[in-house]
Amino acid sequence: MKILPILMITLGLVTAYTTLAEQTVNTGGLETIRGASTIDQTRKADRLKRVIKDKNPIKRNYVHQPPVIPHQIRGYRVDTNSNKCLTCHGWKYAAETGATKISLTHYESRDGKTLSEVSPRRYFCSQCHVTQADAPDLVDNTFKPIESLGND
Ligand code: HEC
Ligand code: HEC
Repeated sequence: MKILPILMITLGLVTAYTTLAEQTVNTGGLETIRGASTIDQTRKADRLKRVIKDKNPIKRNYVHQPPVIPHQIRGYRVDTNSNKCLTCHGWKYAAETGATKISLTHYESRDGKTLSEVSPRRYFCSQCHVTQADAPDLVDNTFKPIESLGND
């Protein structure tokens, strides 16, 4: 049997198919604020930012703002079995640790009932509270913090 011609035809077909696929598949090329990347490439991850480590609370910018976290939280677990944040910020431990107590709103359920434990909707702290890093703004911003909260 002549194996060589069969092999060559198969190879030719495969090459033609791949070239065709490359031509028809749109790989994205979307421009985002992180830069441009295509879906067929794995973009190099950015370096982690250095999170602010000092312990003084950071001024709030508006009423009802979830205060930002003035310390690092790397390795602080929050899952079904334990919540590291509450071991300092829970009412039971706050006096001892010097951390701000979570406020009453963290005990309120969605329909306004006050519970005896942290409400499930306030259990995953980093959903609303975030650490800070000295990083440039990603987008232009003209927001001004309100004066009555001690901002200049
Ligand atoms: C080891 C204890 C400890 C742990 C654990 C901890 N914190 Fe804190 N946290 C503090 C202390 C102390 C402060 C500063 C309070 C002060 O100086 O008034 C603080 C400040 C804060 C503030 C600012 C409060 C304000 O009034 O501005 C937020 C928000 C916060 N922490 C959130 C968190 C979250 C979310 C976690 C879990 C991911 C966490 N913390 C884990 C001790 C802790
Ligand atoms: C759904 C959003 C949300 C989640 C989740 C949440 N918080 Fe808050 N937190 C807020 C908001 C908004 C405020 C400010 C207004 C208020 O007190 O409700 C606040 C206030 C605080 C304060 C300051 C309280 C004060 O008296 O000034 C601390 C400390 C805090 N949160 C810690 C936590 C911790 C710890 C967790 C996790 C167990 C958590 N928060 C989960 C939204 C949230």
